Parts: sequence; C-alpha cells; structure tokens
Amino acid sequence: MRRKQAAGPRLVMAGVLLALLGLLWGSQMLKAFDYFSSWKGDGEQQMYKLDISWPKIPEYFSGQTFCVAVDSLHGLVYVGQRGDDVPKVLVFSEEGYFLDSWNDTVEKPHGIFVSNTATDSSVWITDVGSGKYGHTVKQYSPSGKLLQVLGTPGNAGSSLNPLQFDQPAELFVEESGEMYIVDGDGGMNNRLLKLSQDYKEIWLSGENGTGIGQFKIPHSVTVDPFGRVWVADRDNRRIQVFDKVTGEWLGAWSSCFSEDGPYSVRFTGNYKYLIVAHLRINRLAILAAPPVGEIGDCAIVSTIQLADETKPHLVDVDVKSGAIYIAEIGAQQVQRYVPLS
Ligand SMILES: *[C@@H]1O[C@H](CO)[C@@H](O)[C@H](O)[C@H]1NC(C)=O
Ligand SMILES: *[C@@H]1O[C@H](CO)[C@@H](O)[C@H](O)[C@H]1NC(C)=O
Repeated sequence: MRRKQAAGPRLVMAGVLLALLGLLWGSQMLKAFDYFSSWKGDGEQQMYKLDISWPKIPEYFSGQTFCVAVDSLHGLVYVGQRGDDVPKVLVFSEEGYFLDSWNDTVEKPHGIFVSNTATDSSVWITDVGSGKYGHTVKQYSPSGKLLQVLGTPGNAGSSLNPLQFDQPAELFVEESGEMYIVDGDGGMNNRLLKLSQDYKEIWLSGENGTGIGQFKIPHSVTVDPFGRVWVADRDNRRIQVFDKVTGEWLGAWSSCFSEDGPYSVRFTGNYKYLIVAHLRINRLAILAAPPVGEIGDCAIVSTIQLADETKPHLVDVDVKSGAIYIAEIGAQQVQRYVPLS
C-alpha cells in the first residue's frame, strides 16, 4: 500500500518534468519558425506578428465572427457575430479582456464602424438580416442602445426616399457626420452612397456591372485624409477610388487581386498602407497607399498568410497601436496582429 501511494506523486513529478521539457522544446521551435518566416520571397518583408495574448479568453466567440471595429480613443474593440442564441455584439478592451455583449435589434451583422465625435461615441452596424430589423444600417450607443435606423426595416429595396437597402455591406462615417455606405453584399443593389448628416443623398455611384464606377458586390469602404473614397469592389476583383466631394471616379487597382477579390479596405494610422483581406485564399495583403493625387498602380509590400479555412472577412486597424484586428468567419474568432517595429 505504502509503495503504491508513493508512486502517485512520483508519476506526477515525472509528468510535470516532461511537460516542462515539451514547453521548452516547443518555444525553441517557435523561435526558429519565427526567424525563418520573417524572410519571404521577392524582397517582401514581414511587417506584423500575431498577438497570441489577444483575447485573454477566446471562448467568448460563440458564433461566426463577421466584423470588427476599433475605438482607438477609448481602447475598445467591438466584434459582430452571427448565430442562433448568441449575443450579436461582443465588446473587448484593447488588452483583450471581455467587457460586455449586446443584442438589441441586431439580426445578421455584416459590417461595423465606430464613430467618435467631439461629444460622443457610437457604433454603426449594417444588418443583412431578412427579419423585421434587417436590410438596415443602425446606430447604437456603446452599451447597445438603438439610436438611429436607416433604411426600411424588414424591406429590401433600392429607393432613396424613403431610404432602402438590400444587404448593406459596410459604412464609413466622417467626424462631420457625413457617411458612405456600400450596398450591398449580393442583393439587388451594387452602389456606393454618400449621405449628409441628416441622412439625405449627396451623391450615388454605381450599378451592377464591370464598367467604370459600377460594382459587383461593393464590400468595404473607407476614406483617406486626401478626400478619396476607397471601395473594395469584391467580385470585380478591384479597388475603385472616388472623389469624396463630387463622387467623381478617380481610378482603380486590379493587378493585385488576380487570385482573390478584396474583401476589406482599411488604412494604417499613418495612411502609408492599405490592409486588404482575401477570404478565399486566407490571406491579408498590405499595399502601398499612394499619397495625395494619382492612384497609379497597386503594389503589395507584405502579406500575412493565415491558416487554411480561417476565412478573413473584414478587418479594422487601431490607429494608436497600429494593431490589425481580423474577423475570421471560418476560424470563428478575431485575431490581433501587431507591427513588428
Ligand atoms: C443575447 O442573445 C442571446 C441568445 O438569444 C442570449 O443568450 C444573451 O444572453 C443575450 N444578451 C446578451 C446581453 O448578450
Ligand atoms: C448583375 O449582372 C450579372 C450579369 O452580368 C447577373 O448575373 C447578376 O444576377 C446581376 N446582379 C444583380 C443584383 O442584378
């Protein structure tokens, strides 16, 4: 009996030792892997690395994570997810701690955007649901109180007065309150719409097609400080650029997207690079952003290859830390990549 009792602790000790050795070996391997993966072909340089400490507890992702938005001012990260019986919006701190979740009138979030003005902060969501709250673009308080509904809830359409959407994909709101909406994600509309602070049409571009200013699934939109609107024209495998004041077409990039169309457009905080997600090839492309003026040709300066079936859908950038957050539908998680230098 006494011998048997003594064997237990000894076995546990041996187990712990083996586990420690395993960890040590594993971390050495990781270091070696890091070293080699920082060198890629064609002079391409690794610019970001995965932050494995974000989030602290991944179990909070309980559905399909479609979108993510960073509130750099308040250090918050909002995640939109879909699924039955799951909270639709999760709120994390930028350190990765889970803070809150909410649901109110959110059916199927597609795109999400944080808007900060001098006086307040709000969260905009494009909802592609087909229930009574769907086909809309909605504004919420940071804690999930519904503040504004654009579109005709429950009714898909193309009308501008009253406003209607069909699977609105994403939006960008300027500090002035003027906004740009891409509509949509495979419904009857293929358009980019600019609205005034009081939600009236300022200009509209696009219809279904491959020509200049036409779209096939305008999937993501952003605006740079030089007055240009950038649209991921997903199924035409190109990015189109417009003048934000007039809506005039300024140019397009297509040579970088032969393998897969662009799903996201987001600038880094210094506006030097554009981050583009490719869902089908599980990759992020980092493109050189042209300064004010000519769009020119696109150039990929770096890539982040994700695991198979990760399916990166939309991304956002923390303009303070430079971190990229990736909403991955396949992996059902949001990952954070931080700049290497
Ligand atoms: C949201 O909805 C889900 C499922 O319907 C529920 O489990 C959850 O408690 C709700 N509320 C919040 C705040 O997440
Ligand atoms: C757009 O046009 C293509 C053919 O050019 C057609 O297959 C598709 O259904 C159209 N989409 C819409 C929303 O009208």
